Amino acid sequence: MAQEKNNISALAPDALKRPVPEHIGIIMDGNGRWAKKRGMPRKYGHKRGAKVFEEIAEYCCDIGVRYLTVYAFSTENWSRPEDEVSSLMKLFKEYLTATTSRQKEIRIKFIGDISVLDEELQRLIVEMEAKTASKNGLTVFLAINYGGRDEILHAARQLAKEAAEGKLDPQKIDSTMFESKLYTAGAPDPDFILRPSGEKRLSNFMLWQASYSEFVYMDTLWPDFTPELLEQAISEFNRRSRRYGNVE
Ligand code: IPE
Ligand code: IPE
Ligand code: MG
Repeated sequence: MAQEKNNISALAPDALKRPVPEHIGIIMDGNGRWAKKRGMPRKYGHKRGAKVFEEIAEYCCDIGVRYLTVYAFSTENWSRPEDEVSSLMKLFKEYLTATTSRQKEIRIKFIGDISVLDEELQRLIVEMEAKTASKNGLTVFLAINYGGRDEILHAARQLAKEAAEGKLDPQKIDSTMFESKLYTAGAPDPDFILRPSGEKRLSNFMLWQASYSEFVYMDTLWPDFTPELLEQAISEFNRRSRRYGNVE
C-alpha cells in the first residue's frame, strides 16, 4: 500500500505540466463483471471498487481537481437482488466509519435522495458531511440513490412550491435559479464524464449538468482503474475542442 501511495505522489503534482479539469464525473461501472471474471460474488467487486474510489479521490486531490462526482448507487439500482443492495449499503457504512484516508483536504457531500436510506446510514452521512465541511481541497459529491431525472424533479417541485406560495414569479425562473435547486448547487458543471467498463451511456447521471460535458469512455472495469488511466482520460479531455455552440 505504501508503495502504491509513493507511485501516486510520483505521478502527481506539478511534475506533469498539463491543465487539470476543475470537475470530473465518474460512473464507477464494471464491479460485477470484474468479480464474475474471478468466480467471485458481485459484492467482492463492489468492495474492490470502493477501494479504487478512495485511491482516485486522493489522487484527484493531489493534482488539484476541485470537484469529483462519483456515481455509487442509482435510483434504478434498487431493482437489483436484495442481497446485492444490502451489501452495497453495508459497504457505504464501512466507508463512512473507516478512519483511514481522511487526512487529505477532501470534503465529502452526498447527492441523491438520502431520506429513504436506513437511519444509521443517514446519520453517518450527516456526520461525514459535518466532519469534512471545512476541508478546502477537493469536494467529492458521492451520488447515492441518485438519478438525474429525480434531481430535476426535486428542483422543479421546490420551485413550484415557492410559486404556489406566491414567493416566486414563474416568469423569473431561469437556468441560474434552477441550478440553485440542484443537489450540486454552487458547483461548476463537470468538464468531463468518464465511464469505465465499456458501456457508452449516461444511465441517468447528471442529466442537467452534462449538457456540455465531454464524454470519455474506457474499457477497463472500475476495480482495475488506476491513477495512470485517469491521466490518460485527462489527456484525452485536454485534446478535445469545446465550442459551446460557437465556431472556432
Ligand atoms: C457499478 O458496477 C456499481 C453499481 C452500479 C452499484 P456494476 O455492479 O454495475 O457492475 P457491472 O456493470 O454489473 O459489471
Ligand atoms: C450506473 O451503472 C450506476 C452506477 C454506476 C452507480 P449501472 O450498471 O447501474 O447502469 P446500467 O444498468 O448498465 O445502465
Ligand atoms: Mg453496471
